[in-house]
Amino acid sequence: MNKFKIEQRIKRLKKEINYHRYLYHVLDKQEISDAALDSLKHELFLLEQKYPEFLTFDSPSQRVGGKPLEKFKKVCHRFPMLSLGDVFNQEELKNWEERIQKLAPGQKLKYFAELKIDGFAVSLIYKDGIFFCGSTRGDGRIGEDVTQNLKTIESIPLKLSIHSMPFETLRKGKKDKVSNLKALDKKIRKNLEKIIKKGTLEIRGEVYMAKKVFEKINQKRLEKSEPVYANPRNIAAGSIRQLDSKITDSRDLEFLAYDLITDIGQKSHSEEHKILPALGFKTDQGKICGSVKKIIDFFKSIQKKRKKLPYQIDGIVISVNNNLLYKKLGVVGKAPRGSIALKFPAEEATTQVENICVQVGRTGALTPVAYLKPVNIEGITITRATLHNEDEIKKLDVRIGDTVIVQRAGDVIPDIVKVLPGLRTGKEKKFQMPKNCPICGAKTKRISGEVAVYCSNENCFAKEKEELIHFVSRKAFNIEGLGKKIIEHLMNEGLIFSAADIFYFKKGDLEPLERFAEKSAENLIQSIEKAKKISLARFIYALGIRHVGEETARLLAQQTANSKQQTTNIEDLIDFFQKISLEELENIQDIGPIVGKSIYSFFHSEKSLKLLKDLSKAGVEVNLPQNLQKVSFRISGKTFVLTGSMETLSREQAKEKIRNLGGNISSSVSKNMDYLVCGKNPGSKFEKAKKLGIKILNEGEFLKMIK
Ligand code: IVH
Repeated sequence: MNKFKIEQRIKRLKKEINYHRYLYHVLDKQEISDAALDSLKHELFLLEQKYPEFLTFDSPSQRVGGKPLEKFKKVCHRFPMLSLGDVFNQEELKNWEERIQKLAPGQKLKYFAELKIDGFAVSLIYKDGIFFCGSTRGDGRIGEDVTQNLKTIESIPLKLSIHSMPFETLRKGKKDKVSNLKALDKKIRKNLEKIIKKGTLEIRGEVYMAKKVFEKINQKRLEKSEPVYANPRNIAAGSIRQLDSKITDSRDLEFLAYDLITDIGQKSHSEEHKILPALGFKTDQGKICGSVKKIIDFFKSIQKKRKKLPYQIDGIVISVNNNLLYKKLGVVGKAPRGSIALKFPAEEATTQVENICVQVGRTGALTPVAYLKPVNIEGITITRATLHNEDEIKKLDVRIGDTVIVQRAGDVIPDIVKVLPGLRTGKEKKFQMPKNCPICGAKTKRISGEVAVYCSNENCFAKEKEELIHFVSRKAFNIEGLGKKIIEHLMNEGLIFSAADIFYFKKGDLEPLERFAEKSAENLIQSIEKAKKISLARFIYALGIRHVGEETARLLAQQTANSKQQTTNIEDLIDFFQKISLEELENIQDIGPIVGKSIYSFFHSEKSLKLLKDLSKAGVEVNLPQNLQKVSFRISGKTFVLTGSMETLSREQAKEKIRNLGGNISSSVSKNMDYLVCGKNPGSKFEKAKKLGIKILNEGEFLKMIK
């Protein structure tokens, strides 16, 4: 064979293998035996070895695991990978609908309901149609590059195509997923063709292990007397995060797509569910529902089928179908307002309450906890359940000695859902919230409008301990080697009173203490030293301001970064938050009055100001990470259209600025855009945008925004 013929043979082999891959892994169909397919793959492999000049990134041979990696590279998600809020019944679902209806008055809401796969979320980036980068969710903003591992999953296409696959034959006379191709909007199809040729496309979905594969793996482990895996989700997650992709390869994972992130003109989530299979992805079942009742019907029908499905699901996901409205609804905490997970009821069991004790948390709130007679739910032994607060105890009328129903949902702390009074003996004891803090003895108080009872002592040992644990935790200062037990120990020895004390430790202070060998003292000192340099977002999170979680901390960091001062040290931070008014704080998008007040009072409390100053004195340095400086909170994710000429910037420079700050550019005015930047002598875009009520920025306003 001459070289041309070899190249042709390689091309045909790739196409044929890809066709059978698609049939088998996406459409669950098979035309040739596994052995025959292996033999085609083998021929391709040998040819590519001999003629490496014909080896391409999208070749099926590239799915084989490569050399183990030292560690994963980090990937910054262009759009954050969010999580979902949960509801468990019709009433909670209705409340969710009411909340969004309030934000979209007068609009008829339609939803797309689909399966919630119990797997591991990943993002796939295709550049010019070729699978280029796959990453894990990580903390939502930064994930890990697991491209090589994802390449081993056959249901992930290495190259995207719309027409090129020979499944025309398959389609004839059959109404299967592929017929979605025909139903695609013409414009969408054109845009897809364009972006596959040149451009970036991001798709998200779930990697999972089929129930059958999971059982087989566990069976083998049993035979070898090895411990079995608890569930397919854990093993899927573990397999994706393997540095050796050969291990991933051996695990037979699969992929289901549920989200098309890139805007190619799709107007609804249901449309995305047509586009994804047309691109060669397997998708989950879904349905457009016009009401909560219809969603519940869908939920019930899925619940019936659940056991027969080839993969595990833990509920359904419901999303507002209109993408424009979805975007407008925004994000609360780490979850989009426009989506919610309706979970299957958790597994339940009955047991007895042996005691009720209270725990004092970081905010000083007293949480009653029920100590239970050990009981097994879904393979996990439960000994404790949270009773949340005084009102919950009253509502349940739970007493020490009662027989109760406990429920476990996902990884959260189990709940007591019901007491069985028929089993009472008369010896059960009622529980009262203590009038004094069980740790420091100070009076407890209940703030009006809140359900929690608090310890009134600002310096309560338990509160300070929890604050410190939070301060050094992984998402905050991340001080390795400084866990719960050690903090307690150091506090008991009187070596730390406040977070700032941590930074003054010397090796000699630690070594005499029990638990500290010379090496571990040295390691701890080193990790404390390393932790002194911290990003602004982590720093704010570490402060433990009530209601300020990771996401809000990031938002606040972004705000301060955008401010004129370009906060780079703690003094600047204090200055910024002392100057900002309560009203300004409350008006920041995604910060409401409760969170705003909490931030405001934190930065106006003497105790917190002292802590901040002490931390600064102790040598803590806050810094703005690159991506925080670059991505503007007001611009990221927003779509801009430019018209007219500007005096200080060329069109190209303006576009580059917007892109660098995380914004998108569109060439035409539509309802889907956010801002029209209007220079001198604007064109017809100006009138059109005005009619649509789009926000128009003049040059000065635009410059201020990108500053
Ligand atoms: S939509 C805003 N759809 O559930 C997040 N998620 O509990 C968009 N998941 O992190 C997710 N099946 O890993 C969506 N059909 C589905 C899903 C799904 C499973 C996972 C996903 C997400 C988690 C949230």
